Amino acid sequence: MMNGLDRIRLHALHDKVMTAEQAIELIQDGAVVGLSGFGGAGEAKVVPLALADHAVTHPLRITIATGASLGNRIDGRLNDAHAIARRYPYQADPGLRKSINAGEVMYIDQHLSEMADNIRHHNLPKTNVAIIAATAITEDGQIIPTGSCGNSANFIEMADHVIIEIDTTINPILEGVHDIYVPKTRPNRGPIPLTHVGDRIGTAGICVSPEKISAIVINEIPDTSFGMDEPDAETLSIAKHLIHFFEGEVAAGRLPENLGPLQSGVGSIANAVFSGFEHSNFHDLEMYSEVLQDCAFQLLDSGKMKFASGCSMTLSDPCFAHVMKNFDQYKDKIVLRPQEISNNPEIIRRLGIIAINTALEFDIYGNVNSTHVTGTKMMNGIGGSGDFTRHAHIAIFVTKSIAKGGAISSVVPMVSHTDHTDHDVDVLVTEQGLADLRGLAPRERALKIIEICAHPDYKQELLSYFERACERGGHTPHLLEEALSWHANFEETGHMKSA
Ligand code: COA
Repeated sequence: MMNGLDRIRLHALHDKVMTAEQAIELIQDGAVVGLSGFGGAGEAKVVPLALADHAVTHPLRITIATGASLGNRIDGRLNDAHAIARRYPYQADPGLRKSINAGEVMYIDQHLSEMADNIRHHNLPKTNVAIIAATAITEDGQIIPTGSCGNSANFIEMADHVIIEIDTTINPILEGVHDIYVPKTRPNRGPIPLTHVGDRIGTAGICVSPEKISAIVINEIPDTSFGMDEPDAETLSIAKHLIHFFEGEVAAGRLPENLGPLQSGVGSIANAVFSGFEHSNFHDLEMYSEVLQDCAFQLLDSGKMKFASGCSMTLSDPCFAHVMKNFDQYKDKIVLRPQEISNNPEIIRRLGIIAINTALEFDIYGNVNSTHVTGTKMMNGIGGSGDFTRHAHIAIFVTKSIAKGGAISSVVPMVSHTDHTDHDVDVLVTEQGLADLRGLAPRERALKIIEICAHPDYKQELLSYFERACERGGHTPHLLEEALSWHANFEETGHMKSA
């Protein structure tokens, strides 16, 4: 039997199996294509890569919608072939980043929770073709996702054509870890019935009428693995400040002993900070997050964490191998959900989540920039950081106080782009210290942020800016002609400080 055929348990679908080259004939110039994949896990591979190869000799321009970033250089290869006209809601590919910043690709940087609803309610164009990675197709035709759920259920629901990639590299044991819940179209929508981190409210797979499946392709390319930077002195300090803060909150009776559900951002800093819980006295931790990185599984292994809910598993090679080998021990401790559920504001507010995300920079009043370098150049995107921050019980941002060897201060007079406003941001942490801003007015926030979070090399200049701004008055004092001068200096001289 052909490799992978045994995973298509609805036998009536066997005659839909074809090559990737045949399947891409369904994709027309100008099409809107919905791809599975989130955080480099669970993306469709062989069909998008065949499309990228084809586009080199047969130019076409399409819209690519995904869960979030894709692995296996899918974005990079499609971008190299100039096939991407429009892209949403999140990406992290260096080549695509260049094209976005050159104005060649129209990139819509969206809150991850709301994209499916935007498609469902026609705020975004209809999906023409959905290309979805699957561990298996069940006897009753359900599509079992792989390492992420992303927006796959929505793409399948809305698409004219569905192409399924059976991923033979994924251990079939993954079946049962997903919980697929699709909210009804408004106005017929009730509350999402999820009240505890571990609740299961949906089905094990994505329900689809078999007639909608136009092609099935067998994939043998594994998910990309992720290397995480080892924690360094700064990230260890950030973790220490946070643990100390949480201990104080529990001692004061403001947080339960297990802190309540935690969300962690993406990247090396977030991973390092979360690993800090390993050396704390906290136990029975719970995670209601978006990406489950290595640190989530380390905490489950050590018994510090009792449950983790996410949308995808983005793991390093050794961690992935370990998790797959021992998946039985995780099956009742993790669940993967569609991103409109993992990142859903209704649930985030209900559960009282503590959100910990990474900033590129923040300003003296606590506005945060997570996306735009010097206000103009897209780094990755807002991802789920806005979904979680605005609705969190406590919204925390972490960053190192300086970047690029000290040429950049991460604490600036005014952020050059605002993703998260001061209204939403409760706590800021750098390796220098943790500023608890709850209940403080802007002038109080400024003093605390400068005093506690700024790097010593930039502290005096920030204080001078603030004092001179206060002389002019205002609820949130600024020197408008100077507010972005640090960024302008950096653009001009490669250093934020004027010579
Ligand atoms: N200005 C310019 N560049 C900066 C900067 C600043 N203020 N602060 C950091 N950087 C650079 C770093 O030097 C580094 O550059 P390099 O790749 O050339 O080495 C890069 O930004 C990444 O920074 P790093 O310190 O390694 O952090 P990270 O890997 O943890 O990523 C973000 C930080 C902000 C880019 C990343 O967390 C992100 O994209 N966040 C937005 C999405 C999000 O929060 N998703 C999670 C929601 S659930």
